[in-house]
Amino acid sequence: MKAVQVLGTRENHRIVLSDTLLRPSPTGHRILIKVHAAGITADGVIWPELYASTHRVPGHDISGTIEAVGPEYDGPLSLGQSVYAMLAADSPQGGQSEYAIAMPNEVAIKPLSISHAQAAALPIPALTAWEAVFNRMKLTQGSKALVTGASGAVGAMFVQIAKKMLNAEVIGLASPSKYSFVQELGAIKVLDYGSLDCRR
Ligand SMILES: NC(=O)c1ccc[n+]([C@@H]2O[C@H](COP(=O)([O-])OP(=O)(O)OC[C@H]3O[C@@H](n4cnc5c(N)ncnc54)[C@H](OP(=O)(O)O)[C@@H]3O)[C@@H](O)[C@H]2O)c1
Repeated sequence: MKAVQVLGTRENHRIVLSDTLLRPSPTGHRILIKVHAAGITADGVIWPELYASTHRVPGHDISGTIEAVGPEYDGPLSLGQSVYAMLAADSPQGGQSEYAIAMPNEVAIKPLSISHAQAAALPIPALTAWEAVFNRMKLTQGSKALVTGASGAVGAMFVQIAKKMLNAEVIGLASPSKYSFVQELGAIKVLDYGSLDCRR
């Protein structure tokens, strides 16, 4: 199967498209996903887990269809179903490949309203924002929050989770060209991170 692989060392690596890896087979409860889209994280090519993995295929966020399930799989998902997933850091192979193996608790049904490309961009940013809202900041109903990077991958998720789930009063920081985007996500006000006003 085709896959992206990162060769060399963390300090001196090169990214290649290979076609030498075999399609993996799902064992136990595992799920084989035919990958339609895979997310890219800018610094993913220097993450230590990549260099500890057998196949050096990067990528944790994927969207695709269920191709096969292991003999012990007893969950609700069925062959051909569209799903998206976040593969754990210690997965033997990442998601930037034609096929990838996921554990059942890493997989969710892809909403029909979003494309595979959109779904593959969601898991890590959404889960990072979720952790920030509920575990770190412990926001509650009606909280107030200032979100730096509100127009970015994580910030955009944060604004939506805080607004839609907690009706929080969110002020976002972004560049002026992104104001309307951040407001549509739910911020009551957006400020330019480059302006003096915002720094005061
Ligand atoms: N993406 C992930 O899944 C993830 C996961 C864990 C941690 N993180 C960390 O979370 C942070 C944000 O990541 P991201 O992926 O959301 O980044 P991103 O999508 O590249 O967004 C960057 C954000 O920062 C704003 N920004 C750019 N230059 C700025 C400056 N000089 N001052 C203030 N704001 C500035 C951008 O605003 P404009 O575009 O409006 O200019 C944008 O809102 C990073 O530190 C990243 O390492 C990300």
